[in-house]
Amino acid sequence: MTAPDSTTPPLTTADIRRKFLEFFQSKGHLILPGHSVIAPDPTTMFTVAGMQQFKPQFMGAPAVFSQGESKRVTTAQKCVRMDDIENVGRTRRHLSLFEMMGNFSFGDYFKRDTIAWAWEFLTSPEWMGFDRDRLYVTIYVDDDEAFGYWTEDHGLPADHIHRFGADENFWPADAPLQGPNGPCGPCSEIYYDRGPKYGDDTWADYAETRESARFLEVWNLVFPEFDRQGLDENGEPVLAPLPFKNIDTGMGLERVASVVQDVPDFYTNDVFAPLIEKIAELSGRPYEGEQSVSHRVIAEHARSVSMVIADGVALSNTGRGYVVRKVLRRASRHAYLLGLTEPSIYQLVPLVVERMKDGYPELVTEQGRVQAAILAEEERFLRTLEGGMQRLNGLLESLGDEKVLSGEDAFTLYDTYGFPLDLTQEIAAEHGVDVDVTGYEVALERAQETARAGSKFGKSELFDAGAEAVQNLPQTEFVGYDLLDAEGEVLAVLEGEGGTHRTVVLDRTPFYAEGGGEVGDTGRLEWTNAAGERGEGRVLNTHKVGGVFLHEVDVLSGELSQGQRVRGVVGPERAAIQRHHTATHLLHAALRAVLGSGVRQAGSLVAPGRLRFDFTHAAALSAEELAAVETLVSRWVSANFPVHWQEMPIEAAKAAGATALFGEKYGDTVRVVNVEGDVDYQGAAVHSMELCGGAHVRRTGDIGAFVLLSDENVAAGVRRIEALAGEAATAWVRGQLGQLGRAANLLNTGSEGLEDRISGLQGQLRGAEKEVVQLKQQLAEAQMGGGSAGGDIRELGGYRVAAVRLSGVEGGALRGAADKLLESSGADLVVVASDSGLVVKASKDAVARGAHAGQLIGRLAAAGGGKGGGRPDMAQAGVQNADAALAALESALG
Ligand code: SER
Repeated sequence: MTAPDSTTPPLTTADIRRKFLEFFQSKGHLILPGHSVIAPDPTTMFTVAGMQQFKPQFMGAPAVFSQGESKRVTTAQKCVRMDDIENVGRTRRHLSLFEMMGNFSFGDYFKRDTIAWAWEFLTSPEWMGFDRDRLYVTIYVDDDEAFGYWTEDHGLPADHIHRFGADENFWPADAPLQGPNGPCGPCSEIYYDRGPKYGDDTWADYAETRESARFLEVWNLVFPEFDRQGLDENGEPVLAPLPFKNIDTGMGLERVASVVQDVPDFYTNDVFAPLIEKIAELSGRPYEGEQSVSHRVIAEHARSVSMVIADGVALSNTGRGYVVRKVLRRASRHAYLLGLTEPSIYQLVPLVVERMKDGYPELVTEQGRVQAAILAEEERFLRTLEGGMQRLNGLLESLGDEKVLSGEDAFTLYDTYGFPLDLTQEIAAEHGVDVDVTGYEVALERAQETARAGSKFGKSELFDAGAEAVQNLPQTEFVGYDLLDAEGEVLAVLEGEGGTHRTVVLDRTPFYAEGGGEVGDTGRLEWTNAAGERGEGRVLNTHKVGGVFLHEVDVLSGELSQGQRVRGVVGPERAAIQRHHTATHLLHAALRAVLGSGVRQAGSLVAPGRLRFDFTHAAALSAEELAAVETLVSRWVSANFPVHWQEMPIEAAKAAGATALFGEKYGDTVRVVNVEGDVDYQGAAVHSMELCGGAHVRRTGDIGAFVLLSDENVAAGVRRIEALAGEAATAWVRGQLGQLGRAANLLNTGSEGLEDRISGLQGQLRGAEKEVVQLKQQLAEAQMGGGSAGGDIRELGGYRVAAVRLSGVEGGALRGAADKLLESSGADLVVVASDSGLVVKASKDAVARGAHAGQLIGRLAAAGGGKGGGRPDMAQAGVQNADAALAALESALG
């Protein structure tokens, strides 16, 4: 890197992220959002590379995105690798979430350009400004083409280049032999030499060691030109050429930040350092020594877990949700090790959001939800953590010489105390003990079978409502788009927390389960059992796990049991929810018409009482834009168009122009909600058609009144609108009119005269305020004896000092009095005190000789029970006792 200029702070991680995207934009790339951490294809659980969302384009699919069409694109991609977390925090090199900056070409430019641009971005002083002598590269063993570009185009010395095989210089690594199938190709990696303070190894050594703290890999340039299609009968990989040659690169953002900021590791960069500091502050334990592992674990996991939850992963006992829960519990155990026995990790979320929101504005909208989820999990785990730790420590102590913890014990720790297996393994390893994993799996399997056999499931850590217990139940048939009253059969009843609370699964239900921004339905269940006894329950909420709907029911009378037929009646809130949902679609279409098609939905809430819609747009909406949006929606409402929904293949839906949420994963068949009629906006027809699984009104007229309440900024480039439909809207308007009427009444006028009346009163108020100031000045002058005060000049440390005590004079008048006194007395320093204020002024000449009003006032204010400071020529303070302050001056004057 070029010598850091001491006056310019180094680039932050956000700066580097932004610069990367800007750089490639300047090379004709379209900036696209990275994919959600939920992987776009089933090859992995989480997204692990920037190219993952572009596999179809590499294989020849059209390069058409919601943001436009382009064969060159660039992204910042959150990548999650949570399978190997025990190293995170113990070393400073592993992260469970990292950011990869990428540029991609779909049959457009190839090797020569991508090498040239990587070189330019890293070495140009305008971009990263790395010292070119510190750059080294590796290439695939026979890639003479890449060798030529590096050495001839950019003058890289041949001894800065190593040639490696498919273990290092093919992506995915070793793909030809091991797979996975799909796009792959040789690659060239760029390294930065961090210098001898990180190690005395050389680049030549690296050919042997392949490990170095000194030579840091910062960027991988992949040249995907093959489609791996398995092995042939001889066990040789089949590498078919792709339809064209592609580019996939991944620059490690955290690594480049370490180099740019010249910090030793990730934990000292601008993203993690504040987190580490906050953890030290919360725990009172400094970031040093052995315990610093815990600071790192907590900081790293707080960031990754927050970002994963923000992308919609819910903590659970299966699959992805369980992986995240394990990571959070690991962090929670480390917080506990630092003495944090109360929930603490959720308090780090605002800092994570603050440090990461530039790249991921959705974090801002999701912050509340993320914090709530982490807090709930911390509370839940901390309740059992202490007991579990005692139990585990006891077990470890009693092991004696055999260094193996039994699978049964590990299972009990999981079932009773919520200790994930890997947490138990990690703690055991700290004591040099292994865990019998096979024994654990046997115990787990046995417990799962026992639970499945029963019709009622006990609610324990392992089988909490909505996870394991329902995973083998059939998908619920949802009939609630058309029916609000329908019969179904109880498939399972889970005991809830309270005595009458049950979680009920039906084979068929009219209740909508929370999803797509729409809240879950409420209502009631009714039944008559075999003995003719009637029962009733209130449905408090409905949500779903996979395709199984869970009704949260408060049983008011009777008992619910498996096999019982029940009638489900959705409550009247649904009508209000449907109004708000269709209104949300119209609002979305109207925003795109008025503000442009750059508007993208960033989140929504559809509830009976209101709707909230978050969308991407840089500026606040003008009054005209707001009015235009509101008018467009009202036009749809009065046109009373039918609203239709139907299922269709996703391709057909897209071809028909349906709006889809970017980053959302859709199945092959999607539901499309279409408003059958256009409204006119400045001569253009505006249509609303969206992919959506929610509940809607039959005709736009059912929405009724519609009002936009507010437009506010929630994050960089993301705005939030709240709006009301139907009765909620009319009730709100009525409330506003009532307030207006009461305000007008207070001012003895009608609402139409209110504005005039208020500006009249404001004028009067300003006049009165002016008068008060004048009166105070007169009061001050009168007290100072018309300018003759201050005759009493005394000496303090070589300065001539005059002091006056006034009363009933504050603020500007007090400062004015001090000016007057300075002028009239000819003193070097003046002190003017009033009931609770103190002003000290020094003449220019005195300041030039070293007088300091701020220093003097500090001492006087302290004596008067206050605090103050200021410039050498003027200072003011608030005090409790002005006389004591003056007395202090007196005694100083002798
Ligand atoms: N896909 C490559 C990697 O993950 C480069 O983006 O390293």
